[in-house]
Amino acid sequence: MGTTAEYGLGEYSFPRSWFMVAEASELDGGPIGVRFFANDFVIYRGESGKIVMLDAYCPHMGTHLCKNTTSYIVRDGTQIHGDSIRCPYHGWSFGDDGKCDDIPYAKRIPEAAKVKSYTAVERAGAIFMWHDPEGLEPDFDLPAFAQWDDPAWVRWRFDHMGELASHPIEILYNLADMAHLGPVHAAPVEYFEDEIRGHVCIQRQGGRSRTLVDANGLLETDSWYLGHGVMQSTMTGLMDSHMIIAHTPVEDGVTKVWHGLMVKAPGATPTEQDIAAGRAYQEASRQAFAQDFEIWTYKKPATAIMRIPEDGPFHKVKLWASQFYNPRSKTAEILKRAEGRYGAGDMPRTRERIGA
Ligand code: FES
Ligand SMILES: [Fe+2]
Repeated sequence: MGTTAEYGLGEYSFPRSWFMVAEASELDGGPIGVRFFANDFVIYRGESGKIVMLDAYCPHMGTHLCKNTTSYIVRDGTQIHGDSIRCPYHGWSFGDDGKCDDIPYAKRIPEAAKVKSYTAVERAGAIFMWHDPEGLEPDFDLPAFAQWDDPAWVRWRFDHMGELASHPIEILYNLADMAHLGPVHAAPVEYFEDEIRGHVCIQRQGGRSRTLVDANGLLETDSWYLGHGVMQSTMTGLMDSHMIIAHTPVEDGVTKVWHGLMVKAPGATPTEQDIAAGRAYQEASRQAFAQDFEIWTYKKPATAIMRIPEDGPFHKVKLWASQFYNPRSKTAEILKRAEGRYGAGDMPRTRERIGA
C-alpha cells in the first residue's frame, strides 16, 4: 500500500474529481453508509428523488445517521421525510443542505446544528459525487454515458471488484502501460498513443488479440479518463461496447473499484438473446480486468518506475494525475508540462501506420 505522499503526487491526499460512490440500486432499501476519502458519509434518495449525500455523524451526540435498524424512527419508516433525514437517536432532522431543520422536542435550532453536504447525482445506474479538497464547485462535467439512455444498448450491471490495497495511480498507469497488453491479456500492441489534454487523458491502441477480435483480427480500444475517477473505453471487436472502470479512494492507499460494460444490439431494441450476449461480453471483459486486478493485489507500490523508452508515458500520466492532487492554481503550470501526444519507443502511433 503506497500513499499519495509516497508517490509524490501533490499536497492533497485525495484528488479532486467525480467519483462513483454506490450502485444506484443500493439506495432502494433506504439510506446507506459509505466510507471514502477516509470519511464516513450517508447517502439516500429523498422523497423528491433527489440524491442527498451528507457527513455521517449527527452533531448532537455523534450518532451515525443511518447505521441503525432498531430505533422506532427507522422501524416506523419515518427516517426520510421530504428530502431530509432524521437521526435515529433523538430525532434531529437534517435537510439536503445538511442544515438541521427540526428538533422535535425543542423550540430553537442551534446555528451550529449542521453536517456537511456534498454534490451527488444518479447517472447510468450509479451514484457519483464531486470530491474537492478545496471545497469548490465542479470545474468539469460528469461523463454523460449517453448509451445508458439509448434503447438499442444493453445496460451494464456493475461488477463490484472490491477494495484494492493499492493507490489509484496504479490503476491510472494502465493508460500508459503498452507493454502489459501482450503478456497479461494476449493482445500484443501494434500501434499505441496517449494524448493528454486538460482533465482528459486518452489512450488509443490496437493489435491482434487471441480472443475478442473483429474480421480484420484487429482489436482496437479507445480508453479515456475524464478526471481521476472514471475511465471509459470503447472497443471494436465482436460487438460495439462501452466500458466503465470507476475507482474511488477509501483510505490513502486503498481503492474501491467497479466495472461495467454496455453492448449495442444489432436491432432497435435488444432481444433476450442480445441481452444474454451482452452479459456474456461484460463477463469476458470483467475477466480481462480481473487479470490486472490480480497483478495489483500482490504488487509493491511503483513509487518509482524503472521506465525504459519502449514503455508508454507513465511519467506523463502521473504528471497529468497530479493536477487533481494540487490546488487549481497550479493546474496550468502542471498541464504545460503534461499536455501532448506520446507514443512508446518506435512503435507506430496510429492504425494507418500499420496499414490495417
Ligand atoms: S445524536 Fe443525533 S439527535 Fe441526538
Ligand atoms: Fe490491463
